[in-house]
Amino acid sequence: MKIQIINGPNLNLLGVREPGVYGNASFDACMTALRRRFPDVELSYFQSNIEGEIINKLHETGFSFDGIVLNAGAYTHTSVAIHDAIKAITTPVVEVHISNVHAREEFRHTSLISGVCRGVIAGFGMDSYRLAVEAIKG
Ligand code: DQA
Repeated sequence: MKIQIINGPNLNLLGVREPGVYGNASFDACMTALRRRFPDVELSYFQSNIEGEIINKLHETGFSFDGIVLNAGAYTHTSVAIHDAIKAITTPVVEVHISNVHAREEFRHTSLISGVCRGVIAGFGMDSYRLAVEAIKG
């Protein structure tokens, strides 16, 4: 089974960025824990701050991988283009957020991508990614 994890803008700063909201751990530590926990899953990781690069990765993996775990960061709330890319591909996408976006500012309460994703996981810290992988594994 092949699963692509995609992190969007500012998530390269995990561990450094707003630790009160996003925690102290880098995403490298999260990937190590995921690979240890799911030795039977081929987990690929991609991060970009650039909307078009995220779309390219969705196109590249969205017809052959078994699942995509997407934390689109702030693009979640703004990107019609990422919405359209998810709609265009056949691989199921699980929307993930580290924080509970519904308990934060109102502009984070709207997601332009939830409706085209298989499901949404938000608010469980880095564990949100594990829950998304579990959901794809079924
Ligand atoms: C986030 C929530 C978004 O609102 C924010 O812009 C992020 C991270 C999360 O993982 O909690 O960059 O997607």
